[in-house]
Amino acid sequence: MTTATRKPPARKARLEKKALNKEPTMAELADRHALYQESVQNSEFELDFIDETFKELTGRTASSMREDFCGTAISSVEWVERRDSNTAIGVDYDAEVLDWGKKHNVSRLKPDQLARLQLIEDDVRTVETDKVDCIQAYNFSYWFFQERAVMVEYFRRTREALVDDGILFLDVFGGSECYQTQKEKRKLDGFKYIWEQAEFNAITNELKCHIHFHFPDKSKLKKAFSYTWRVWGARELREILQEAGFSETIIYRQEFDEETDEALDEYIATEEAEDYACWLGYIVARR
Ligand SMILES: C[S@@+](CC[C@H](N)C(=O)[O-])C[C@H]1O[C@@H](n2cnc3c(N)ncnc32)[C@H](O)[C@@H]1O
Repeated sequence: MTTATRKPPARKARLEKKALNKEPTMAELADRHALYQESVQNSEFELDFIDETFKELTGRTASSMREDFCGTAISSVEWVERRDSNTAIGVDYDAEVLDWGKKHNVSRLKPDQLARLQLIEDDVRTVETDKVDCIQAYNFSYWFFQERAVMVEYFRRTREALVDDGILFLDVFGGSECYQTQKEKRKLDGFKYIWEQAEFNAITNELKCHIHFHFPDKSKLKKAFSYTWRVWGARELREILQEAGFSETIIYRQEFDEETDEALDEYIATEEAEDYACWLGYIVARR
Protein backbone atom coordinates (compact mmCIF):
# COMPACT_ATOMS: atom_id res chain seq x y z
CA MET A 1 0.00 0.00 0.00
CA THR A 2 1.34 3.47 -0.85
CA THR A 3 1.37 6.22 1.78
CA ALA A 4 -1.19 8.15 -0.30
CA THR A 5 -3.88 5.53 0.38
CA ARG A 6 -3.21 5.28 4.13
CA LYS A 7 -5.68 7.02 6.39
CA PRO A 8 -4.33 9.11 9.28
CA PRO A 9 -5.12 7.22 12.53
CA ALA A 10 -7.65 9.80 13.79
CA ARG A 11 -9.59 9.80 10.51
CA LYS A 12 -9.50 5.99 10.37
CA ALA A 13 -10.94 5.78 13.89
CA ARG A 14 -13.68 8.28 12.97
CA LEU A 15 -14.60 6.24 9.88
CA GLU A 16 -14.69 3.01 11.87
CA LYS A 17 -16.94 4.63 14.49
CA LYS A 18 -19.25 5.89 11.73
CA ALA A 19 -19.44 2.41 10.23
CA LEU A 20 -20.33 0.95 13.64
CA ASN A 21 -23.17 3.46 14.23
CA LYS A 22 -24.49 3.15 10.69
CA GLU A 23 -28.07 2.01 10.17
CA PRO A 24 -28.22 -1.20 8.11
CA THR A 25 -29.10 -0.61 4.47
CA MET A 26 -32.23 -2.04 2.87
CA ALA A 27 -30.00 -4.51 1.00
CA GLU A 28 -28.44 -5.67 4.25
CA LEU A 29 -31.89 -6.24 5.75
CA ALA A 30 -33.33 -7.94 2.67
CA ASP A 31 -34.12 -11.64 2.43
CA ARG A 32 -33.08 -12.87 -1.03
CA HIS A 33 -35.47 -15.84 -1.05
CA ALA A 34 -38.48 -13.66 -0.20
CA LEU A 35 -37.49 -11.21 -2.97
CA TYR A 36 -37.05 -14.12 -5.41
CA GLN A 37 -40.51 -15.50 -4.67
CA GLU A 38 -42.05 -12.07 -5.11
CA SER A 39 -40.28 -11.18 -8.33
CA VAL A 40 -39.78 -14.46 -10.18
CA GLN A 41 -42.45 -16.94 -9.19
CA ASN A 42 -46.16 -17.02 -9.88
CA SER A 43 -47.12 -20.42 -8.51
CA GLU A 44 -50.84 -19.79 -8.74
CA PHE A 45 -50.61 -19.19 -12.49
CA GLU A 46 -48.28 -22.17 -12.99
CA LEU A 47 -50.48 -24.53 -10.98
CA ASP A 48 -53.59 -23.32 -12.86
CA PHE A 49 -51.76 -24.17 -16.10
CA ILE A 50 -50.86 -27.64 -14.80
CA ASP A 51 -54.40 -28.28 -13.55
CA GLU A 52 -56.13 -27.13 -16.74
CA THR A 53 -53.71 -28.82 -19.14
CA PHE A 54 -53.65 -32.10 -17.22
CA LYS A 55 -57.47 -32.23 -17.20
CA GLU A 56 -57.66 -31.41 -20.89
CA LEU A 57 -55.12 -34.09 -21.87
CA THR A 58 -56.08 -36.94 -19.52
CA GLY A 59 -59.75 -36.25 -18.76
CA ARG A 60 -59.10 -36.39 -15.02
CA THR A 61 -57.85 -34.12 -12.25
CA ALA A 62 -54.23 -34.46 -11.17
CA SER A 63 -53.63 -35.13 -7.51
CA SER A 64 -49.99 -36.14 -7.01
CA MET A 65 -47.27 -33.72 -8.09
CA ARG A 66 -43.48 -33.69 -7.86
CA GLU A 67 -41.73 -30.33 -7.96
CA ASP A 68 -38.15 -30.73 -9.19
CA PHE A 69 -35.64 -27.96 -8.33
CA CYS A 70 -38.27 -26.93 -5.76
CA GLY A 71 -36.16 -24.27 -4.01
CA THR A 72 -38.40 -22.74 -1.34
CA ALA A 73 -41.12 -25.30 -2.22
CA ILE A 74 -43.78 -22.61 -2.59
CA SER A 75 -45.43 -24.43 -5.48
CA SER A 76 -45.62 -27.72 -3.52
CA VAL A 77 -47.10 -25.87 -0.55
CA GLU A 78 -49.75 -24.23 -2.72
CA TRP A 79 -50.49 -27.58 -4.40
CA VAL A 80 -51.37 -29.32 -1.11
CA GLU A 81 -53.46 -26.29 -0.12
CA ARG A 82 -55.40 -26.48 -3.40
CA ARG A 83 -57.31 -29.73 -2.81
CA ASP A 84 -57.62 -32.16 0.08
CA SER A 85 -56.72 -35.00 -2.31
CA ASN A 86 -53.46 -33.36 -3.47
CA THR A 87 -50.02 -34.65 -2.49
CA ALA A 88 -46.66 -33.06 -3.32
CA ILE A 89 -43.02 -34.10 -3.32
CA GLY A 90 -40.45 -31.28 -3.52
CA VAL A 91 -36.89 -32.15 -4.51
CA ASP A 92 -33.87 -29.85 -4.21
CA TYR A 93 -30.27 -30.60 -3.32
CA ASP A 94 -29.64 -27.35 -1.43
CA ALA A 95 -30.36 -27.70 2.30
CA GLU A 96 -30.21 -23.92 2.83
CA VAL A 97 -33.09 -23.13 0.46
CA LEU A 98 -35.15 -26.09 1.69
CA ASP A 99 -34.72 -24.90 5.30
CA TRP A 100 -35.86 -21.41 4.30
CA GLY A 101 -38.90 -22.95 2.60
CA LYS A 102 -39.75 -25.00 5.68
CA LYS A 103 -39.51 -21.96 7.92
CA HIS A 104 -41.37 -19.47 5.71
CA ASN A 105 -43.75 -21.52 3.53
CA VAL A 106 -44.29 -25.01 4.94
CA SER A 107 -44.87 -23.61 8.44
CA ARG A 108 -48.23 -22.15 7.39
CA LEU A 109 -49.69 -25.58 6.50
CA LYS A 110 -52.32 -27.25 8.65
CA PRO A 111 -51.46 -30.74 9.96
CA ASP A 112 -53.54 -32.57 7.31
CA GLN A 113 -51.85 -30.53 4.54
CA LEU A 114 -48.41 -31.08 6.02
CA ALA A 115 -49.04 -34.83 6.01
CA ARG A 116 -49.49 -34.65 2.22
CA LEU A 117 -46.16 -32.91 1.58
CA GLN A 118 -42.73 -34.52 1.39
CA LEU A 119 -39.53 -32.52 0.90
CA ILE A 120 -36.46 -34.42 -0.23
CA GLU A 121 -32.91 -33.07 -0.16
CA ASP A 122 -31.44 -34.83 -3.15
CA ASP A 123 -30.28 -34.50 -6.73
CA VAL A 124 -33.16 -34.62 -9.24
CA ARG A 125 -30.93 -36.71 -11.52
CA THR A 126 -30.79 -39.61 -9.08
CA VAL A 127 -33.71 -39.20 -6.66
CA GLU A 128 -36.13 -42.14 -6.27
CA THR A 129 -39.75 -41.19 -5.59
CA ASP A 130 -43.20 -42.76 -5.71
CA LYS A 131 -44.90 -42.44 -9.08
CA VAL A 132 -46.87 -39.20 -9.51
CA ASP A 133 -49.45 -37.75 -11.90
CA CYS A 134 -47.26 -34.82 -12.87
CA ILE A 135 -43.76 -33.45 -12.47
CA GLN A 136 -42.93 -29.78 -12.86
CA ALA A 137 -39.40 -28.48 -13.51
CA TYR A 138 -39.81 -24.72 -13.75
CA ASN A 139 -37.82 -21.56 -14.14
CA PHE A 140 -35.50 -23.22 -16.64
CA SER A 141 -33.69 -25.10 -13.88
CA TYR A 142 -33.25 -28.17 -16.07
CA TRP A 143 -31.08 -25.91 -18.28
CA PHE A 144 -28.38 -26.41 -15.63
CA PHE A 145 -27.86 -29.70 -17.47
CA GLN A 146 -25.53 -28.89 -20.32
CA GLU A 147 -24.75 -32.25 -21.91
CA ARG A 148 -27.31 -33.96 -24.08
CA ALA A 149 -26.64 -37.34 -22.42
CA VAL A 150 -27.39 -35.84 -18.98
CA MET A 151 -30.63 -34.32 -20.27
CA VAL A 152 -31.73 -37.63 -21.84
CA GLU A 153 -31.06 -39.42 -18.55
CA TYR A 154 -32.91 -36.78 -16.50
CA PHE A 155 -35.96 -37.02 -18.80
CA ARG A 156 -35.78 -40.83 -18.77
CA ARG A 157 -35.87 -40.85 -14.98
CA THR A 158 -38.73 -38.32 -14.75
CA ARG A 159 -40.69 -40.51 -17.16
CA GLU A 160 -40.13 -43.53 -14.92
CA ALA A 161 -41.44 -41.53 -11.96
CA LEU A 162 -44.76 -40.81 -13.73
CA VAL A 163 -47.93 -42.93 -13.69
CA ASP A 164 -49.13 -44.31 -17.05
CA ASP A 165 -51.01 -41.15 -18.11
CA GLY A 166 -48.57 -38.87 -16.26
CA ILE A 167 -47.24 -35.58 -17.63
CA LEU A 168 -43.95 -33.68 -17.32
CA PHE A 169 -44.25 -29.87 -17.36
CA LEU A 170 -41.22 -27.82 -18.40
CA ASP A 171 -40.80 -24.18 -19.26
CA VAL A 172 -38.78 -22.87 -22.15
CA PHE A 173 -37.80 -19.52 -23.59
CA GLY A 174 -36.60 -18.46 -26.99
CA GLY A 175 -35.97 -15.55 -29.34
CA SER A 176 -32.84 -13.64 -30.30
CA GLU A 177 -32.45 -12.09 -26.83
CA CYS A 178 -31.56 -15.49 -25.32
CA TYR A 179 -28.34 -15.44 -27.25
CA GLN A 180 -26.97 -12.13 -26.08
CA THR A 181 -25.89 -10.23 -23.01
CA GLN A 182 -28.54 -7.88 -21.71
CA LYS A 183 -30.21 -6.47 -18.61
CA GLU A 184 -33.90 -6.27 -17.89
CA LYS A 185 -35.26 -4.19 -15.01
CA ARG A 186 -38.65 -4.43 -13.36
CA LYS A 187 -40.00 -2.17 -10.65
CA LEU A 188 -41.78 -4.01 -7.87
CA ASP A 189 -43.27 -2.99 -4.55
CA GLY A 190 -40.31 -1.58 -2.57
CA PHE A 191 -37.46 -2.82 -4.76
CA LYS A 192 -36.20 -3.23 -8.32
CA TYR A 193 -35.57 -6.65 -9.87
CA ILE A 194 -32.71 -6.86 -12.36
CA TRP A 195 -32.20 -9.85 -14.64
CA GLU A 196 -28.73 -9.81 -16.15
CA GLN A 197 -27.51 -12.09 -18.91
CA ALA A 198 -23.86 -11.40 -18.20
CA GLU A 199 -22.01 -13.69 -20.62
CA PHE A 200 -23.03 -15.79 -23.59
CA ASN A 201 -20.74 -18.28 -25.27
CA ALA A 202 -21.83 -18.53 -28.91
CA ILE A 203 -20.03 -21.86 -29.38
CA THR A 204 -21.42 -23.76 -26.39
CA ASN A 205 -24.69 -21.80 -25.90
CA GLU A 206 -23.64 -21.36 -22.25
CA LEU A 207 -25.38 -18.39 -20.64
CA LYS A 208 -24.24 -16.89 -17.32
CA CYS A 209 -27.03 -14.96 -15.61
CA HIS A 210 -27.53 -13.08 -12.36
CA ILE A 211 -30.44 -11.69 -10.41
CA HIS A 212 -29.74 -8.41 -8.59
CA PHE A 213 -32.05 -6.39 -6.35
CA HIS A 214 -31.86 -2.58 -5.96
CA PHE A 215 -33.53 -0.61 -3.18
CA PRO A 216 -34.87 2.95 -2.76
CA ASP A 217 -32.02 3.84 -0.33
CA LYS A 218 -29.64 3.14 -3.26
CA SER A 219 -28.27 -0.01 -1.66
CA LYS A 220 -27.90 -3.09 -3.87
CA LEU A 221 -27.99 -6.83 -3.42
CA LYS A 222 -25.75 -7.80 -6.31
CA LYS A 223 -25.69 -11.37 -7.64
CA ALA A 224 -28.34 -12.49 -5.17
CA PHE A 225 -28.68 -15.52 -7.46
CA SER A 226 -26.40 -16.70 -10.27
CA TYR A 227 -27.01 -19.42 -12.81
CA THR A 228 -25.07 -20.98 -15.65
CA TRP A 229 -27.40 -22.51 -18.19
CA ARG A 230 -27.17 -23.95 -21.63
CA VAL A 231 -29.73 -22.28 -23.89
CA TRP A 232 -31.67 -25.19 -25.35
CA GLY A 233 -34.04 -24.89 -28.29
CA ALA A 234 -37.64 -26.09 -28.13
CA ARG A 235 -37.18 -28.41 -31.08
CA GLU A 236 -34.10 -30.17 -29.73
CA LEU A 237 -35.75 -30.56 -26.31
CA ARG A 238 -38.73 -32.27 -27.94
CA GLU A 239 -36.38 -34.65 -29.73
CA ILE A 240 -34.58 -35.46 -26.46
CA LEU A 241 -37.92 -36.06 -24.71
CA GLN A 242 -38.89 -38.43 -27.50
CA GLU A 243 -35.54 -40.22 -27.18
CA ALA A 244 -36.18 -40.58 -23.43
CA GLY A 245 -39.44 -42.39 -24.25
CA PHE A 246 -42.14 -39.71 -23.93
CA SER A 247 -45.00 -40.50 -26.30
CA GLU A 248 -46.00 -36.93 -27.20
CA THR A 249 -44.81 -33.39 -26.58
CA ILE A 250 -46.86 -30.23 -26.97
CA ILE A 251 -45.53 -26.68 -27.00
CA TYR A 252 -47.69 -23.98 -25.45
CA ARG A 253 -46.34 -20.64 -26.62
CA GLN A 254 -46.97 -17.30 -24.99
CA GLU A 255 -49.38 -15.08 -26.94
CA PHE A 256 -48.57 -11.50 -27.91
CA ASP A 257 -50.92 -8.58 -28.37
CA GLU A 258 -51.15 -8.11 -32.14
CA GLU A 259 -51.21 -4.32 -31.97
CA THR A 260 -48.72 -3.54 -29.19
CA ASP A 261 -46.54 -6.69 -29.38
CA GLU A 262 -46.92 -6.90 -25.60
CA ALA A 263 -46.43 -10.39 -24.12
CA LEU A 264 -49.64 -11.80 -22.64
CA ASP A 265 -50.25 -14.30 -19.84
CA GLU A 266 -51.92 -16.67 -22.30
CA TYR A 267 -50.33 -19.86 -23.59
CA ILE A 268 -51.62 -21.63 -26.68
CA ALA A 269 -50.67 -25.05 -28.06
CA THR A 270 -48.99 -24.46 -31.39
CA GLU A 271 -46.66 -25.98 -33.98
CA GLU A 272 -45.87 -22.67 -35.60
CA ALA A 273 -44.91 -19.41 -33.94
CA GLU A 274 -43.85 -16.03 -35.18
CA ASP A 275 -40.42 -14.97 -33.99
CA TYR A 276 -40.28 -12.52 -31.10
CA ALA A 277 -37.08 -11.19 -29.50
CA CYS A 278 -38.03 -12.94 -26.27
CA TRP A 279 -40.83 -15.43 -25.77
CA LEU A 280 -41.81 -17.85 -23.03
CA GLY A 281 -43.51 -21.19 -23.35
CA TYR A 282 -44.23 -24.56 -21.76
CA ILE A 283 -43.25 -27.98 -23.01
CA VAL A 284 -45.78 -30.56 -21.94
CA ALA A 285 -44.54 -34.15 -22.31
CA ARG A 286 -46.96 -37.10 -22.02
CA ARG A 287 -45.49 -40.30 -20.65
C1 LIG B 1 -33.80 -21.27 -10.29
S1 LIG B 1 -34.09 -22.13 -8.76
C2 LIG B 1 -35.72 -22.67 -9.14
C3 LIG B 1 -36.70 -22.51 -8.02
C4 LIG B 1 -38.13 -22.77 -8.41
N1 LIG B 1 -38.33 -24.10 -8.95
C5 LIG B 1 -38.69 -21.76 -9.36
O1 LIG B 1 -39.51 -22.14 -10.20
O2 LIG B 1 -38.41 -20.57 -9.30
C6 LIG B 1 -33.08 -23.54 -8.98
C7 LIG B 1 -33.07 -24.53 -7.84
O3 LIG B 1 -32.60 -25.77 -8.36
C8 LIG B 1 -31.77 -26.41 -7.40
N2 LIG B 1 -30.94 -27.38 -8.15
C9 LIG B 1 -30.06 -27.16 -9.14
N3 LIG B 1 -29.57 -28.31 -9.64
C10 LIG B 1 -30.18 -29.31 -8.94
C11 LIG B 1 -30.11 -30.74 -8.99
N4 LIG B 1 -29.32 -31.35 -9.88
N5 LIG B 1 -30.88 -31.45 -8.14
C12 LIG B 1 -31.69 -30.82 -7.25
N6 LIG B 1 -31.80 -29.49 -7.16
C13 LIG B 1 -31.06 -28.73 -7.99
C14 LIG B 1 -31.04 -25.27 -6.72
O4 LIG B 1 -30.60 -25.66 -5.44
C15 LIG B 1 -32.12 -24.18 -6.69
O5 LIG B 1 -32.83 -24.20 -5.48
